[in-house]
Amino acid sequence: MTDEPWWKTAVVYQIYPRSFADSDGDGIGDLPGIIGRLDYLRRLGVDVLWLSPVYPSPQDDNGYDISDYQNIDPVFGTLADFDALVERAHAKGMRILMDLVVNHTSDEHPWFVESRSGKDSPKRDWYWWRPPRAGMTAGQPGAEPTNWASFFSGPTWELDPATGEYFLHLFSRKQPDLNWENPEVRQAIYAMMRWWLDRGVDGFRMDVINMISKDTTLPDGVTFHGGSLGDGFPHFISGPRNHEFLAEMHREVFEGRDRPLLTVGEMPGVTLEQAVEFTAPERREVDMVFQFEHVNLDQAGSKWDVRPFQLRELKASFGRWQAGLAEVGWNSLYWNNHDQPRVVSRFGDDGAHRVRAATMLGTVLHLHRGTPYVYQGEELGMTNAPFTSIEDFRDIESVNHYAEAVAAGQEPGAVLTALRLMSRDNARTPMQWDDSPNAGFTTATPWLAVNPNHKEINAAVAVADPDSVFHHYRRLIELRHTEPAVAYGDFTMLLSDDEHVYAFTRSYDGVELLTLGNFTGATRAVDLPGWAAAQLVIGNYPPDEDRNGILLRPWEARVYRRNA
Ligand code: NOJ
Repeated sequence: MTDEPWWKTAVVYQIYPRSFADSDGDGIGDLPGIIGRLDYLRRLGVDVLWLSPVYPSPQDDNGYDISDYQNIDPVFGTLADFDALVERAHAKGMRILMDLVVNHTSDEHPWFVESRSGKDSPKRDWYWWRPPRAGMTAGQPGAEPTNWASFFSGPTWELDPATGEYFLHLFSRKQPDLNWENPEVRQAIYAMMRWWLDRGVDGFRMDVINMISKDTTLPDGVTFHGGSLGDGFPHFISGPRNHEFLAEMHREVFEGRDRPLLTVGEMPGVTLEQAVEFTAPERREVDMVFQFEHVNLDQAGSKWDVRPFQLRELKASFGRWQAGLAEVGWNSLYWNNHDQPRVVSRFGDDGAHRVRAATMLGTVLHLHRGTPYVYQGEELGMTNAPFTSIEDFRDIESVNHYAEAVAAGQEPGAVLTALRLMSRDNARTPMQWDDSPNAGFTTATPWLAVNPNHKEINAAVAVADPDSVFHHYRRLIELRHTEPAVAYGDFTMLLSDDEHVYAFTRSYDGVELLTLGNFTGATRAVDLPGWAAAQLVIGNYPPDEDRNGILLRPWEARVYRRNA
């Protein structure tokens, strides 16, 4: 398969630098900290390291608010540290993916400072400035140019009193949206991207890249029940010029570079049909999408409105994406990232069956077609955190939601319950390296408390135990590297109506693989004739000697292999 792109056999590891490893004792992770852990990552076997943003930033949204695209925030180190990281990672056979946050900048970025300086600023049009709604005066409730709700609570428009105009921010008010309609903006971004590639990085994970093209007529959205704010999604998701912008970016930045690179488009709300278009190789937009359908299945209205997760719905969603991208396009596979609660707590069991649930979940995910992503700590089976009060949270989304919901009359205890289940801070507690007081993450007070369960759940213990989640993930990654059916095989969902067991086959070049995952704490019989005698290539229990049928033990995963 020499003509297949390299990333079809690759596994990406996401590092959230703030929470990974602190080398200088300020309670915040940094680049030298990452360098110190490269051998751990090499041992796990991952191919690509995606770094969440390390650029200078006021850290309103932990670095997703960038004030200088071509430098490193002092809290994380220097450009020299960054160059050293790239060089050492390359020497150990791992590539570096930068987080590209170009839907918006920080309000402290010089581009925005200039843009805000007056209506005549040459950069005024680099952002979305609009007068108040017709017939209304600036600052009057409802005078915002549209009724859109921001992702981090409140309206998406902030009034600048000096000029009496509003600027658009889909995220926090310190994250103004760039105006991609302006060709100067696009050229400035492409130049910056070329600069990083010339410096040696191997590609980009593109933050909310399906929000860069908005409906320029800026229509109101349908209001959320009872409120004054509306849903702007249809007007800024996968907008009219999104494909054009990505194709242009490809031409301006990536074309003609002959070393192996990777582009990943993070695309909330992207449909399967759109994903096919964004990733069709001949269109030259992005290599793969990062989509959200499966992580929205336990939500009713908003993300804070949690409902029980149904395995059949998960299978229907994954199955549809597998089928839809079978011929053209490519998907990312993930349970976790810095925006999602920990999967073992969410879809598994973080109590007595934690190790088996975590390894089962990893097995099911990694055996799909697509490129798997491991989020730091997932390979240890790290869990959600036991937050006790709102003071324990740091994430702007969580903190703002709490204030807004409580102000609107919701019972604080109920709001906290939802935060405990869904807050992004669950993913952001420091990496658990050992059982020392701050989990080996820092010698200082960590910026977000370590999970007390680091006494039992940590890398030192996991690396020493051949049956740990770590070694199971290592074997899954190795299987993708060595078994072509994992990377290239056709996918067939089995038992789609079964509420307890996830089952599918992959087939390629005369080899067939069967993956089974028991999503419950009870024993489950599986009726799939002809498989019990096949070769067991990976499992999370000692092999079962019964060759007459398949009886899955609590949270058991198995992968069988046979010649077709
Ligand atoms: C998506 C990122 O993953 C998230 O962490 C961030 O808050 C928003 N985009 C805004 O950049």
